[in-house]
Formats: sequence, structure tokens, C-alpha cells
Amino acid sequence: MCGIIGYTGINEAVKKVTQGLEILEYRGYDSVGICASVGGKLEIVKTKGRVSELNKLLANEPIQNDLCAIGHTRWATHGAPSYVNSHPHMVGKTCLVHNGIIENYKEIKSRLENEGVNFVSDTDTEVGCGLINYYYEKTNEPYEAILSASDKMRGSYAFAIMFSDEENTIYAIRQGSPLIIAKGQDGFYLASDLTALIPFTKEYYSLCEGEVVKLAGNKAEIYQKGEPQWKRTDMTYEMAKKGGYDHFMLKEMYEQPKAIENSLSSRIKDGLPDFSVDGMDKSFFEEIKAIHIVACGSAMHAGLVASHLIEKLAFVPTRVYIASEYRYTPPLTIDDTLVVVVSQSGETADSLASLRYAKEKGFKTLGIVNAVETTIAKEADYRAYTYAGPEIAVATTKGYATQVSLMSLFAICLAYNKGKIDTNTAKDLTTCLFSHAPKALGEVLERRDEVKEIAKLIYERDDIFYIGRGIDYQMSQEASLKLKEISYIHSQAYAAGELKHGTISLIECGTPVIAIATEEKLFDKIDSNVKEVRARGAYTILICDGEMENAQECADKVFILPKSSYIGNIFSSLAVAQLIAYEVARLRGCDIDKPKNLAKSVTVE
Ligand code: M6R
Repeated sequence: MCGIIGYTGINEAVKKVTQGLEILEYRGYDSVGICASVGGKLEIVKTKGRVSELNKLLANEPIQNDLCAIGHTRWATHGAPSYVNSHPHMVGKTCLVHNGIIENYKEIKSRLENEGVNFVSDTDTEVGCGLINYYYEKTNEPYEAILSASDKMRGSYAFAIMFSDEENTIYAIRQGSPLIIAKGQDGFYLASDLTALIPFTKEYYSLCEGEVVKLAGNKAEIYQKGEPQWKRTDMTYEMAKKGGYDHFMLKEMYEQPKAIENSLSSRIKDGLPDFSVDGMDKSFFEEIKAIHIVACGSAMHAGLVASHLIEKLAFVPTRVYIASEYRYTPPLTIDDTLVVVVSQSGETADSLASLRYAKEKGFKTLGIVNAVETTIAKEADYRAYTYAGPEIAVATTKGYATQVSLMSLFAICLAYNKGKIDTNTAKDLTTCLFSHAPKALGEVLERRDEVKEIAKLIYERDDIFYIGRGIDYQMSQEASLKLKEISYIHSQAYAAGELKHGTISLIECGTPVIAIATEEKLFDKIDSNVKEVRARGAYTILICDGEMENAQECADKVFILPKSSYIGNIFSSLAVAQLIAYEVARLRGCDIDKPKNLAKSVTVE
């Protein structure tokens, strides 16, 4: 949520920072700005809108001889998107960009106003800037000023800061929001997200909570610690580009079969699930008596599918919590309950807060995370990376698919280690997951044209319902979120049997109802539910397993899934739903990779 980038070095700071901002734009895209250090002065250019708007301004009035710059792309929290509210903010000698929220900004603001500081924006950021400047003017010591201000601020923040009387130097601090510094041949970089640094360098260091860093000349210095411990990433720039696809979302959908294999391969030994690579051995699994899965949005939906499998295979009671609600639920059991926090970005504020809450209460914690070295991955007792690679589209696809695949393997492993399934069953299920899931999903992606036809039938509607039973109900929640998130059509997922207890009153002539039916034992029941809505005028679409009898007569439009297995069907039905969302949004002319009001990584509560 919001993106930060900075560079100090030998040349073209503005060019590098704007290039980084283009990559970071998925983190927020309602306003954008840059501050460059030019001949002993700080120059700020900022605007409401996207990086392309900033580039136009910079093309008209280029900044010359720039060796150092910071930039920001914003997802508004305090104050509407506008010129004054966009970053960088400058108060006195201090200029900065900020991610996160300063919760006590009102109280700091009124104190500073009493001291004569004048604020022009509605943001908490400008107040943070004013506070650092207040201490800087008192001490003339950047480090002291940043630390004193940070001591007074509550909330989460990552700041990149420049002082007008210290040329070509960037200071940074993080507390609760990620910040990464990197070392290139041409100087030092900093960003809220490793992906933005990949075009420039692979050597990076992820700042720890509360660390203050100074980047200047040929030195990166962490206060009171000295040189950072550099690491190398194996991410390539290609991974962060569209690679010929019209949208990142489409590219990421087609990357799913490979991503699923990556998420599973290092955790299968001799045909059996084995999480020893993540430090989870047999006794780890044997001890688990209950599981809480805590996450937001799609990650929470992945948890719903996983909880179904865990209870079905391992008979371990599993509850899924919306992360923003978890802290308000008294912990009923602690002993031998595992809290699994699922997050693609590894930085989602509510998920992180839940992880901290769980640890505080004495739970054992596991982070299932995609972005490596992120806060949730670092702070959880155990971590398992999903290895989906960088996900740029705001709407998650491969992130979700790998969360489901990894947690499905976890469910098999748990069942096996608890003696609920024998070796042959565990092997069969593992093979099913490893070979059927990517295959079935890939086969659906090849049938994109069929889905385009379905999309044409429904894209002009205002409401669309998804229905399903059992695991299909859990999956349909993700299907529905995907659709509304990028097409702006109101959509709801309903347990197929529950619709008639109220919501069926919303079905009108032509309302699309998409039913998912992959479980043989539920075919008859879902067929009846489809008939119920059809009788009330709904336009019905059935996505079903090929074994469903007379499927073609059951609904107005039918998509038969490729022949697979129970597990394969979870992934193939997902692919149909992802394609429906994508094609509908495309027909409606939506900005698919950057849907309105959203941002990729939600680092505020
Ligand atoms: O990074 P996370 O997995 O923690 O993000 C959680 C949700 O914000 C995220 O899954 C969101 O719902 C997706 N963008 C939906 O496509």
C-alpha cells in the first residue's frame, strides 16, 4: 500500500526513480511524486494521478544533474488524492515520502501548530515530516531527529527522508512497513518492495524494525550497526514484466501450473509430503490438535478451501478467521493449536497484527507467505514460502493457487503423520495434487475462447451470484471476489442450499447464477438448487465435473471441466472463475491490473 523508491549515486536519479515507480504502481496509484537533490537544493514534482502523469510533467520541465532522488506512489488514506496530499511532503528543511499510518498524528499536529508549524495538507505524513523537522532544527543531527520523532509516533511507517542541507543523502527508517535497501554498481537504492529494485541490482538488505539507515556517496550505513549484511535475490527483471501478455493478471494466470509445481516440489520426498525443508518434522504434525487459519481477502479464501481438506483428511478442528477480526476473538484453546497466517505479500497489516497477537497469547505460528524476507515470514515461528514469484496484478491468481496447493499438501501431510491415512493413500493424494492440479488448471486456460463466450452473456449485468456446496462453496467465494474486484459487478457467493433462505428474492429475470459442481455426491443437490433459481428467471451457468449426468440440460450454459480428480477439480474450476472475471472485466473496459480504490499490499489496518 503506497510505494517508496529512492536512489543516490552517480547519475540519472530521476530516471531510475520513475522507472522504479512504474513497477511499484500496483501498490497504489492515485497520486505520485518525486524529490531530487539538485545543486544543493531539493526540487519536488508531484501530481494527482499515475506515473505517466508525472512523466509528462518531467518531460516538460526536466530535472538536470540529478544524483539523488526519492519517489512515491500513493494509495490515499488521510486526505483525498490531490496535489497537496501527494508525497513528497516538505516541512522546513525536511522532505520525505511515507508508507503506513501515523495513528496519533492529530495530537502531534496540534502540538506542532502551537509551536508555529504550518501544515498545508490533510495527511498524517506531513505531520510526521513536521515532527522530524522540528527535532532536526533543534539538534541539526539527522539520526537524533529521526529517532526522537519515531519515539513520539504511534502506528506503522516507512520513511525515506532527505534534508535540504545535506546533499545527495537519503535517510530511512521503518516501523511496521517494509523497506529494503540495495547496493548497485552505480550507487545505493531503497524501496518498499524488492521487485522495484530488480532492474538495478540483486544485492539487498531488508531493514529491521526501528533501524535507521543513511545512504550517501559510496556508503550505506546502518546506525549503530555499520555495514548491512547484503543478501542476493534470484528474481529476474523478466519476472516483473508483462512478457507479451495484455495484462499482468493474464500472465500470472498462465504462470499458475508452474507456480503450483514450484510450491510443491521441494516438499515431496519419495512420493510423500515432507515439510522438513521448512523445519516441520513428524513430531510437529503429530502435536497439532487444532488449527486457526488467519488471513485477509483471497488468502482467507485459500484458508477456507484448506480448512475443508484438513478436516476431511486429518480430522483436526480448523477455524478460519478474517484477520481484521481475529484479535477480537478470545483464544479458546492454546495448547497445541497452530495458528497459520497466510499472506502473499507477507506485509498485510491485519494479518501481521494477528500473528503478533497469536504469539503474544502463546500460540505456535506458521506463516505461509509468497514474498520472501517479509515481516510475516520473519516473525512467524515457522515459515513456508509458496514460491509463486512476483505477483504484480492487484487481483491475486497464482498467489491464491499456490496458497491452496501448499496448504493442500500440508493437509495430506498432517493426515499422514497423524495416522489418519495410510502410506498408499498419502502417496495417491500427493500424486493427484502434484500432477492433476497444474494439469487440470492448464487445460482450462487453453479453453479461454469458451470462457469468452460465457463472459459475453453476462458482462452487462449488475448482479451475479456464485453458488456451490462443500469445497465448491469455499472456492466460489474466491470466484465471486475475483469477479467483483476487477469488473465492479456486484457479486456474491452463496452456499447453494442457503440461497432460498432470503437471498433468492434478489434473483430477477436474467440474473446470472454460476453454479460450481465438482463433487459427485453433491450433483443431485446442486442440480435442484440450479432448478430453483432457473424457475425464478435466473440465467444459469454450470461449471461441473464431466461425470455429472445430463449436465447439458441442467443449466442454460455448461462448462465441463477436464477429466481429473477431486483435487484437480479445485484448480480447474478456479481457472474457469478467474477467466470469467478477467474476460468480463475486459469486455467492460476495466483497468484490470489496477482496479479502482484498491492496492496490492494492504499495509494499513
Ligand atoms: O498479501 P495478502 O495475501 O496478505 O493479501 C490479502 C488480501 O489483501 C488479498 O488476497 C486481496 O484480497 C486480493 N488482492 C484479492 O485479489
